[in-house]
Amino acid sequence: MVSRVTTVAFQGIEAVPVDVQVQVGPGMVAFTIVGLPDKAVGESRERVRGALHASGLALPAKRVTVNLAPADLPKEGSHYDLPIALGVMAAIGAIPADQLSQYVVLGELGLDGDLAPVTGVLPAAMGANGLGKSLICPKACGSEAAWADPDMDILAPQSLIQLANHFQGTQVLSRPSAKLRGPATDLPDLGDVKGQESAKRALEIAAAGGHNLLMVGPSGAGKSMLASRLPSILQPLEPRELLEVSMITSLAGELADGRLTDRRPFRAPHHSASMAALVGGGIKAKPGEVSLAHNGVLFLDELPEFNPQVLDSLRQPLETGEAVIARANHRVSYPARIQLIAAMNPCRCGHAGEPGHQCRRGHKCQSDYQARLSGPLLDRIDLRIEVPAVTARDLINPGSQETSKSVAARVARARRIQEDRFRERGLSGRTNAHTPAGHLEDLVPLDQPARAFLSDAADTLALSARGYHRVLKLARTLADLDDVETVGRIHIAEALSLRGETLFRQAA
Ligand SMILES: Nc1ncnc2c1ncn2[C@@H]1O[C@H](COP(=O)(O)OP(=O)(O)O)[C@@H](O)[C@H]1O
Ligand SMILES: [Mg+2]
Repeated sequence: MVSRVTTVAFQGIEAVPVDVQVQVGPGMVAFTIVGLPDKAVGESRERVRGALHASGLALPAKRVTVNLAPADLPKEGSHYDLPIALGVMAAIGAIPADQLSQYVVLGELGLDGDLAPVTGVLPAAMGANGLGKSLICPKACGSEAAWADPDMDILAPQSLIQLANHFQGTQVLSRPSAKLRGPATDLPDLGDVKGQESAKRALEIAAAGGHNLLMVGPSGAGKSMLASRLPSILQPLEPRELLEVSMITSLAGELADGRLTDRRPFRAPHHSASMAALVGGGIKAKPGEVSLAHNGVLFLDELPEFNPQVLDSLRQPLETGEAVIARANHRVSYPARIQLIAAMNPCRCGHAGEPGHQCRRGHKCQSDYQARLSGPLLDRIDLRIEVPAVTARDLINPGSQETSKSVAARVARARRIQEDRFRERGLSGRTNAHTPAGHLEDLVPLDQPARAFLSDAADTLALSARGYHRVLKLARTLADLDDVETVGRIHIAEALSLRGETLFRQAA
């Protein structure tokens, strides 16, 4: 007899249904798994055998064959243990097979029959809900599964025995509840940064329009300090964004005790990060830092210290909002709509441009260091600003400092204006930085002086088409912060100056 249990395989954040077919029949005593299992799935055999034994069920002295269908879809991970175990139990009549058909099942088994948490339970729950099925997952993952749908039936047992008892009616498992992490109260505040008014303004503009930002300045100027304060002026995630972000976090196995959070992601990978760590992939298909930063911020400190190839692999996600990873025989993609914030010293020794400083290697110190960044990458950064060393006067007598709360209020207002504009036109974007090029004419109306000024500037600065579009998007944000609909000359002028065209030319 063949018993069937449904589980899932992950392709990006999508959960694809997988049919686990278990046959217990006559023949040589053996336990085989077929259907493109990876190593972890292959080893599942031993865990299932151990867990069944610990739960008081011995495997029959027969031939057990497990087929994971569709056979040509690669199966990765340890979450196939539980569906295989349940399939075997149904095949030998230890649990009623008909009850299993309404569930999607995933979980890893210990030799003692306990269920260990697995990654990807939230996307699996969403997938199960889409199929009109219920879910069985390990207890530790129950609260994340509960987010998929408040009405969905979810079983989150601690062990195989608990689950068997539930099916036999001797123990009832209650539905886990969805949990949210409390609001962020411990974020560093912009009020701590003394002076640096223009850098703070740039940070506010970047936050308001979702623009990429690069800060260039001597060591100790406060660049890292400024970047770490960006989360405090960003709005919390919308419910739809929150689910998207959490699905990626769930696949990466980084959802702390199954609680979701509405904080915008802020990821700051170290500059030794590999391409797999940054963009995703590696031995197992896993989302990388750009995807973990989806709907939030990717902060790359000491930008030129990153491997140039690794940096260039960011170009595609920055453009398309998606990280595509090639696997041996297929490709997967994860969402990666990010805001890139980067910081760097002007030269290797870190002090070029400071009054009275002469680099020992002369001009080369600066030009060699900056040459590590490719033109196409820089072209994708809307704001490139200089952050000069903070003066002693600012440190000693800083005057009144604006706190993150009031900056956040202005950012929120500008974001609302953008969202309304996109909604009115039925467009899917949310921030000016992601305005589709085809809609720029319509969304960024220029008055006559602005138009003339921009066309002159585009010629003198030899802006690329992408650069030209990015100036328009940035000017749109400046006008939104001023709460005016038509973009004026002053907005174009500020947008051009914030692009810092000269910052990199002088070093070349
Ligand atoms: N504008 C500032 N206001 C207050 N403290 C500052 C400022 N700039 C730098 N500092 C101090 O200097 C330290 C180093 O700043 P950091 O942000 O790491 O510099 P950078 O990243 O530019 O090299 C900070 O931790 C902070 O204590
Ligand atoms: Mg720093």
